[in-house]
Amino acid sequence: MKSPVIADNKVPALPRSEWSSHANYPRQTLLLGSHENFRNISEHLVKESMLAWSTSAAKAPRSDLSRLFWRWKSAMSSHEGYEEGKLYPYLHAKYGVSMGALELHHKSLNLAAEKVRAAEGNGDALQFAHAIKKHHEILIPHLAEEEEVVIPLLLELDSREFERYKNGHIAVLLREIEREGKGAQTNG
Ligand SMILES: [Fe+2]
Ligand SMILES: [Fe+2]
Repeated sequence: MKSPVIADNKVPALPRSEWSSHANYPRQTLLLGSHENFRNISEHLVKESMLAWSTSAAKAPRSDLSRLFWRWKSAMSSHEGYEEGKLYPYLHAKYGVSMGALELHHKSLNLAAEKVRAAEGNGDALQFAHAIKKHHEILIPHLAEEEEVVIPLLLELDSREFERYKNGHIAVLLREIEREGKGAQTNG
Protein backbone atom coordinates (compact mmCIF):
# COMPACT_ATOMS: atom_id res chain seq x y z
CA MET A 1 0.00 0.00 0.00
CA LYS A 2 1.29 3.46 -0.87
CA SER A 3 1.87 5.80 2.04
CA PRO A 4 -0.29 8.91 2.06
CA VAL A 5 1.58 11.98 0.85
CA ILE A 6 1.41 15.18 2.89
CA ALA A 7 0.12 17.82 0.48
CA ASP A 8 2.35 20.74 1.49
CA ASN A 9 5.76 19.11 1.39
CA LYS A 10 5.13 15.75 -0.31
CA VAL A 11 6.89 13.72 2.40
CA PRO A 12 4.96 10.49 2.98
CA ALA A 13 3.46 10.50 6.48
CA LEU A 14 5.37 7.52 7.75
CA PRO A 15 6.42 7.97 11.36
CA ARG A 16 9.78 6.62 12.48
CA SER A 17 8.06 4.00 14.66
CA GLU A 18 6.62 2.40 11.50
CA TRP A 19 9.79 2.24 9.40
CA SER A 20 10.90 -1.17 10.61
CA SER A 21 7.56 -2.78 9.71
CA HIS A 22 7.64 -1.40 6.13
CA ALA A 23 8.02 -4.06 3.40
CA ASN A 24 11.10 -2.28 1.98
CA TYR A 25 12.88 -2.02 5.35
CA PRO A 26 15.83 -2.35 5.77
CA ARG A 27 16.71 -2.98 2.09
CA GLN A 28 15.89 0.58 1.04
CA THR A 29 17.04 2.52 4.07
CA LEU A 30 20.28 4.20 3.20
CA LEU A 31 22.05 6.51 5.69
CA LEU A 32 20.90 4.93 8.96
CA GLY A 33 24.07 2.89 9.59
CA SER A 34 26.42 5.81 8.82
CA HIS A 35 24.31 8.16 10.92
CA GLU A 36 24.51 5.83 13.90
CA ASN A 37 28.32 5.82 13.60
CA PHE A 38 28.33 9.62 13.32
CA ARG A 39 26.25 9.94 16.50
CA ASN A 40 28.56 7.61 18.40
CA ILE A 41 31.76 9.36 17.29
CA SER A 42 30.33 12.80 18.00
CA GLU A 43 29.16 11.79 21.50
CA HIS A 44 32.58 10.30 22.19
CA LEU A 45 34.30 13.52 21.09
CA VAL A 46 32.01 15.72 23.22
CA LYS A 47 32.60 13.59 26.31
CA GLU A 48 36.35 13.13 25.86
CA SER A 49 37.14 16.72 24.89
CA MET A 50 35.39 18.06 28.01
CA LEU A 51 37.07 15.44 30.18
CA ALA A 52 40.45 16.28 28.64
CA TRP A 53 39.97 19.96 29.42
CA SER A 54 38.93 19.29 33.01
CA THR A 55 41.82 16.95 33.78
CA SER A 56 44.77 18.21 31.70
CA ALA A 57 47.23 20.71 33.12
CA ALA A 58 48.49 21.56 29.62
CA LYS A 59 45.08 22.82 28.48
CA ALA A 60 45.84 22.28 24.79
CA PRO A 61 43.35 20.14 22.81
CA ARG A 62 44.25 16.45 22.96
CA SER A 63 45.94 15.63 19.65
CA ASP A 64 44.28 12.21 19.31
CA LEU A 65 40.85 13.89 19.59
CA SER A 66 41.82 16.45 16.94
CA ARG A 67 43.01 13.69 14.62
CA LEU A 68 39.81 11.71 15.18
CA PHE A 69 37.67 14.78 14.53
CA TRP A 70 39.33 15.58 11.19
CA ARG A 71 39.42 11.97 9.99
CA TRP A 72 35.75 11.75 10.81
CA LYS A 73 34.99 15.08 9.09
CA SER A 74 36.66 13.77 5.98
CA ALA A 75 34.38 10.68 5.99
CA MET A 76 31.38 12.93 6.65
CA SER A 77 32.31 15.18 3.77
CA SER A 78 32.17 12.16 1.39
CA HIS A 79 28.79 11.26 2.90
CA GLU A 80 27.51 14.83 2.44
CA GLY A 81 28.95 14.95 -1.08
CA TYR A 82 26.95 11.83 -1.95
CA GLU A 83 23.80 13.32 -0.42
CA GLU A 84 24.13 16.65 -2.22
CA GLY A 85 25.40 15.12 -5.45
CA LYS A 86 22.95 12.23 -5.84
CA LEU A 87 20.43 11.59 -3.08
CA TYR A 88 19.00 15.10 -2.65
CA PRO A 89 18.74 15.95 -6.38
CA TYR A 90 17.11 12.59 -7.08
CA LEU A 91 14.52 12.97 -4.29
CA HIS A 92 13.88 16.57 -5.33
CA ALA A 93 13.31 15.54 -8.95
CA LYS A 94 11.27 12.47 -8.05
CA TYR A 95 9.02 13.96 -5.35
CA GLY A 96 9.41 17.74 -5.69
CA VAL A 97 10.66 17.95 -2.10
CA SER A 98 12.98 20.83 -1.26
CA MET A 99 16.25 19.68 0.26
CA GLY A 100 17.56 23.24 0.79
CA ALA A 101 17.28 23.17 4.60
CA LEU A 102 19.38 20.00 4.80
CA GLU A 103 22.03 21.54 2.53
CA LEU A 104 22.14 24.57 4.82
CA HIS A 105 22.77 22.27 7.79
CA HIS A 106 25.83 20.90 5.97
CA LYS A 107 27.14 24.45 5.57
CA SER A 108 26.52 25.17 9.27
CA LEU A 109 28.41 22.00 10.18
CA ASN A 110 31.39 23.13 8.12
CA LEU A 111 31.32 26.55 9.78
CA ALA A 112 31.20 24.83 13.18
CA ALA A 113 34.24 22.73 12.16
CA GLU A 114 36.14 25.94 11.40
CA LYS A 115 35.62 26.92 15.06
CA VAL A 116 37.20 23.59 16.05
CA ARG A 117 40.17 24.49 13.82
CA ALA A 118 40.41 27.92 15.46
CA ALA A 119 40.47 26.37 18.94
CA GLU A 120 43.28 24.06 17.84
CA GLY A 121 45.17 27.08 16.50
CA ASN A 122 44.76 28.80 19.86
CA GLY A 123 45.88 25.68 21.74
CA ASP A 124 42.77 26.07 23.88
CA ALA A 125 41.25 22.83 25.18
CA LEU A 126 38.14 24.51 26.62
CA GLN A 127 37.43 26.36 23.38
CA PHE A 128 38.02 23.06 21.54
CA ALA A 129 35.52 21.22 23.79
CA HIS A 130 32.91 23.95 23.29
CA ALA A 131 33.43 23.96 19.52
CA ILE A 132 33.04 20.16 19.40
CA LYS A 133 29.85 20.46 21.44
CA LYS A 134 28.46 23.18 19.17
CA HIS A 135 29.19 20.98 16.14
CA HIS A 136 27.40 18.11 17.90
CA GLU A 137 24.35 20.30 18.60
CA ILE A 138 24.00 21.05 14.88
CA LEU A 139 24.73 17.50 13.79
CA ILE A 140 22.24 15.59 15.96
CA PRO A 141 19.07 17.41 14.79
CA HIS A 142 20.40 17.40 11.21
CA LEU A 143 20.70 13.60 11.20
CA ALA A 144 17.21 13.20 12.66
CA GLU A 145 15.61 15.64 10.22
CA GLU A 146 17.45 14.14 7.27
CA GLU A 147 16.28 10.65 8.19
CA GLU A 148 12.70 11.87 8.64
CA VAL A 149 12.70 13.42 5.15
CA VAL A 150 14.73 10.81 3.29
CA ILE A 151 13.79 7.43 4.76
CA PRO A 152 10.02 7.55 4.06
CA LEU A 153 10.77 8.65 0.47
CA LEU A 154 13.23 5.81 -0.08
CA LEU A 155 10.82 3.27 1.44
CA GLU A 156 8.10 4.60 -0.86
CA LEU A 157 10.06 3.61 -4.01
CA ASP A 158 9.14 0.28 -5.57
CA SER A 159 12.07 -2.10 -5.63
CA ARG A 160 12.76 -1.63 -9.36
CA GLU A 161 12.91 2.12 -8.97
CA PHE A 162 15.17 1.78 -5.93
CA GLU A 163 17.57 -0.38 -7.97
CA ARG A 164 17.52 2.18 -10.79
CA TYR A 165 18.38 4.88 -8.25
CA LYS A 166 21.12 2.84 -6.62
CA ASN A 167 22.83 1.89 -9.87
CA GLY A 168 22.13 4.97 -11.97
CA HIS A 169 24.31 8.03 -12.55
CA ILE A 170 22.55 11.12 -11.26
CA ALA A 171 22.69 12.95 -14.62
CA VAL A 172 20.97 10.00 -16.32
CA LEU A 173 18.42 9.63 -13.51
CA LEU A 174 17.47 13.31 -13.70
CA ARG A 175 17.08 13.14 -17.49
CA GLU A 176 14.91 10.04 -17.22
CA ILE A 177 12.71 11.50 -14.48
CA GLU A 178 12.22 14.67 -16.52
CA ARG A 179 11.30 12.63 -19.61
CA GLU A 180 8.88 10.51 -17.58
CA GLY A 181 7.29 13.67 -16.14
CA LYS A 182 6.74 15.08 -19.64
CA GLY A 183 5.34 11.73 -20.79
CA ALA A 184 2.90 11.69 -17.88
CA GLN A 185 1.75 15.26 -18.74
CA THR A 186 1.24 14.32 -22.39
CA ASN A 187 -0.71 11.18 -21.47
CA GLY A 188 -2.65 12.86 -18.68
FE1 LIG B 1 23.41 12.01 6.18
FE1 LIG C 1 23.45 15.23 5.74
